[in-house]
Amino acid sequence: MHIPTLIARKREGEELSKEEIGCLIEGYVSGVVADYQMSAFAMAVFFKGMTAVETAALTNAMIASGDVFSHPKGAVVVDKHSTGGIGDKVSLILAPLVACAGCRVPMVSGRGLGITGGTLDKLESIPGFRVGVSMDEAGQILDKLGVVMMGQTDRFCPADKKLYALRDVTGTVPSIALITASIMSKKMAETLDRLVLDVKYGTGAFMKTREDAETLAEGMRAVGKEMGVEVFALLNEMSEPTGRTVGNVLEVIEALECLDGGGPADLREVVLDLSEKIAGVSRSELEALIDDGSARRKFEELVAMQGGDPADLPRLSEIHKAPVIREVISENGGTVIGVDAGKIGQASLELGAGRSRAEDAVDFAVGFDCLVKSGEELEAGGTLVRIHARSVEAAVAAEVKVRAAISVS
Ligand code: URA
Repeated sequence: MHIPTLIARKREGEELSKEEIGCLIEGYVSGVVADYQMSAFAMAVFFKGMTAVETAALTNAMIASGDVFSHPKGAVVVDKHSTGGIGDKVSLILAPLVACAGCRVPMVSGRGLGITGGTLDKLESIPGFRVGVSMDEAGQILDKLGVVMMGQTDRFCPADKKLYALRDVTGTVPSIALITASIMSKKMAETLDRLVLDVKYGTGAFMKTREDAETLAEGMRAVGKEMGVEVFALLNEMSEPTGRTVGNVLEVIEALECLDGGGPADLREVVLDLSEKIAGVSRSELEALIDDGSARRKFEELVAMQGGDPADLPRLSEIHKAPVIREVISENGGTVIGVDAGKIGQASLELGAGRSRAEDAVDFAVGFDCLVKSGEELEAGGTLVRIHARSVEAAVAAEVKVRAAISVS
């Protein structure tokens, strides 16, 4: 197969066959197709889209690039995946919580993508936490704890591992076909009974409108149905960040507050909304599993099994302390009428919480906390947000951006 011709045909909006798509993905994983060719292909898909048949073929080719999980008979295997948001630390709470309800949760997540943060980067801010566990080890952790949180590996969805990193740095993330194949290949290879999708739309999401989010949800539901998985999709607006923190370690700290029964109300709400769909127990039972400390203990066990030390969790803010912490003060009093998630996400990325090149390391310490929420009353001189930055220059640049993102009237 001549790859440049295939790229050019997609550029012209032609429909590719299942075999052509299979060949492209196989070639990409084996190294025959170069990163620059795959970048061009991803950009062609971004502009021209894919038909439902092509999207299903892409998803299947990505699943086939690696192995799939198998689970003990009788296990109820569930998972959740978000299409990407700002301050979205839901998985860190939901995975241990749903495991406490008796489910098996083989959660395969991603790194930061575009302006959105990634669960893997957040977990790695816990010293020693290994997201790169093998499938055999993942199976052992699942047997012991009922939950594992890991990334794609060279054996599990390697096509998504490579393509995901490439899309992140080539402006090719917000494509319905590419998002569908990325998410559903991981989720279907987990061999699930039930999946809940948190489909975001708004300024801080890849889908800017509810209509596009509905189309994305519909496409992902269709793939799940074809593979015999019960898929629930909740549409959630992402115009404002979830909770009051954005940035890797800052989000883990907030997730721990939620696991302790506290934290921001909107975060707890979305955790419960999504968990309820898959856990097979009532909302009040889920609340009890948070409030009695079970979910927190499960998270600590998971940290210990995956190489971290639970004793570090209360010290995360000291372990990753940004050199500059700058409070942004409101000049006027009034009601907060908007906190633009897209602008906050961009500012966080520029502080170093995300990547510009695939090989970049993220800065765990930087980002925002104490972020105001819409509807809150603020006095003149009150705190809009705190910036955690590597340098004074970075903090000053971020201040300009967050001031433009927060409206008080
Ligand atoms: N999450 C994923 O795993 N992939 C995407 O493309 C977007 C969000």
